[in-house]
Amino acid sequence: MPQDTLTITDNRTGQAYTLPIENGTVRAMDLRKIRTGPEDFGLMTYDPAFMNTASCRSAITFIDGDRGILRYRGYPIEVLAEHSTFLEVAYLILFGELPTAAQLKDWVQEVTHHTMLHETTKKFMEGFRYNAHPMVMLVSTVAALSNVYPDSKNIQDPASRLLQIKRLIGKMPSIAAMSYRHNVGFPYVYPDNDLTYTENFMNMLWKMVEPKYVANPVIARALDILFILHADHEQNCSTNAMRAVGSSHTDPYLATAAAAAALSGPLHGGANEEVLRMLDEIGSKDNVPAYIKKIKEGHGKLMGFGHRVYKNYDPRAKIIKWAADRVFEITGRNIKIEIALELERIALEDDYFVSRKLYPNVDFYSGIMYQAMGFKPEMFTVLFAIPRAAGWLAQWQEMLTDPEQKIARPRQVWIGHETRPFVPIEQRSPVSATR
Ligand code: CMC
Repeated sequence: MPQDTLTITDNRTGQAYTLPIENGTVRAMDLRKIRTGPEDFGLMTYDPAFMNTASCRSAITFIDGDRGILRYRGYPIEVLAEHSTFLEVAYLILFGELPTAAQLKDWVQEVTHHTMLHETTKKFMEGFRYNAHPMVMLVSTVAALSNVYPDSKNIQDPASRLLQIKRLIGKMPSIAAMSYRHNVGFPYVYPDNDLTYTENFMNMLWKMVEPKYVANPVIARALDILFILHADHEQNCSTNAMRAVGSSHTDPYLATAAAAAALSGPLHGGANEEVLRMLDEIGSKDNVPAYIKKIKEGHGKLMGFGHRVYKNYDPRAKIIKWAADRVFEITGRNIKIEIALELERIALEDDYFVSRKLYPNVDFYSGIMYQAMGFKPEMFTVLFAIPRAAGWLAQWQEMLTDPEQKIARPRQVWIGHETRPFVPIEQRSPVSATR
């Protein structure tokens, strides 16, 4: 019997099956042959929320949640945050290797070339209500780009795919900045291609009447580091949305809009906004023990804590804490950091959080830092979406070029009625619509 196999005995029939084990997995389709008879569909796995199911083979991002490790294409996140720029990391994630100096120069130039939005896209954004949430504007505008670039439907053409990738990475900051300016009622600022990716983003956000925007280099670098930390995170909820929607061969703008919509939820990228609301609600360090008690009694969650994969400190949270100190030297200390530090200190000593392996995640400190930089909480998830577009697009490409992938279509376990006779309307009893 080969060693890398699994033998299962079906006690319903007494029959034994031997399945190959590859990369620590068995293929769910191999279970289909386990049947009680010719009428039996075959065994399936039931795994709501994908707790133990690999949906793809990937070579982009590696996470070891128990050891707090995150690597892009084999490079530890700490090393990339120290030595690279966001666009360099985006190149690495997308193409598999760090660029040479010449490749990086071309890549930066090409992405920069695509930062402008079509004037009709600007008009589309102007149509939103004055108080539109920036994330809603971003999701809708990214979807609307599908109309501006009909060539994006040509998803089997590698050159077309690459063009859309450059367009999207170039335009994400422009859309994000316009959604902010719209929200505060300022005129939109056009990109300045003399500036770096993050400096240009700051220019589009904060330029007022000065002829040339000059970004604070410490803030620009801190933002760049945050972009590196958020660039990809393997098969999370939004990436899964990107792959699932992209698997129907929809274009990358619509797939990216779907991924961004998934990101906006409070259990995912929306958590950083919720952390700030939570810190506001707590109000002061003295109120932290009472707040923790409330959480332990089952009233809500400690936002910015816990992770499906990290059961140890999130390595991104460590880097953010370090970068936050550099930012505070410029902006002054955000008083919320005191509440956050106290919350972390008490939670990490408390058996409720320790036994459940709940540690601060990337969203716990990022919001505090964003606020110190001058962002409103409504912008936080937008700031997450800009760099994550690189990860979504890399995963989309990997999915499209993987011969094993097909349209994503899970199975279900049927728990409803068998066929039943139609009930005439006068014989029906009312049922509650809110059950
Ligand atoms: N506060 C209090 N209790 C928690 C928390 C929390 N933040 N997170 C998990 N738990 C408890 C949960 O109630 C459960 O307890 P019990 O076993 O008694 O029922 C246990 O810990 C296991 O939690 P789970 O819900 O099974 O874990 P999950 O892997 O399904 O959820 C999570 C992961 C991130 C959705 C969850 O930890 C959470 O809701 N955290 C708060 C929201 C947050 O910060 N999200 C950002 C995630 S990181 C960035 C990103 O992915 O976008």
